[in-house]
Amino acid sequence: MKVIVAKDYEDMSARACEIMVKSVKENPRAVLGLATGSTPLGLYRNMIRDHQEKGTDYSRVKTANLDEYAGLDKEHEQSYAYFMKHNLFDGLNIDLANTNIENGTAADAAAECARYNALLEELPRDIQVLGIGSNGHIAFNEPNTPFGSETHVVDLAESTIRDNARMFSDIAEVPRRAFTMGLKNIMNAKKILILANGANKAQAVYGLVKGEVTERVPASVLQLHPDCTLIADEGAASLLTEQTK
Ligand code: GLP
Repeated sequence: MKVIVAKDYEDMSARACEIMVKSVKENPRAVLGLATGSTPLGLYRNMIRDHQEKGTDYSRVKTANLDEYAGLDKEHEQSYAYFMKHNLFDGLNIDLANTNIENGTAADAAAECARYNALLEELPRDIQVLGIGSNGHIAFNEPNTPFGSETHVVDLAESTIRDNARMFSDIAEVPRRAFTMGLKNIMNAKKILILANGANKAQAVYGLVKGEVTERVPASVLQLHPDCTLIADEGAASLLTEQTK
């Protein structure tokens, strides 16, 4: 794993943007795997600014998002579909028909998971953006998710519900279940770009980079990926004593 320690959140976001824009310039038909959460917001702001100022073209780019809350419609302000539209897609010249995310309100959850797995097979991601949960989760793959997992519906960990409650007016409104790409789907991306900021992520980042590769820490599976880059700010990298290859 390549580890880049960024000075702060802005530096992390700018460096991540350079990598994303390079992927799109090298391949105007790139398939981008995208993530939600607070972490990639700065990256997305930078991508929008780059598009507006330098004209990077997204007209043929396709995207696949990691996860979606079960029960939230795409118009719900806390849905990840809404997040992506308002924090990234509306600022780019991307065709919304080329963007993909699980349908949180699908009546048949098993059929929706099968649909998304088939879509991911047809749409191999050139680069997959990830954040990391404070308990080491990636997407919504909570501790003890099998490394061989594909898209599935998950019961969220209490710690994840607490972490994400800040986005809702009341913790009782946080959905208890979500659709998520599995760890196998994530590992199938050609390149992984994982971002982390803040000291509250330091333990998870340690597990990601230096801990045992174990299903107890889902992010640790990324140690087995041939092309994974972590960009962490100084707070998130504080338990890594040296740059790690
Ligand atoms: C959620 C998302 C993850 C994200 C994590 C961390 O659980 N499903 O994809 O990485 O939160 O979020 P944040 O970046 O807000 O810390």
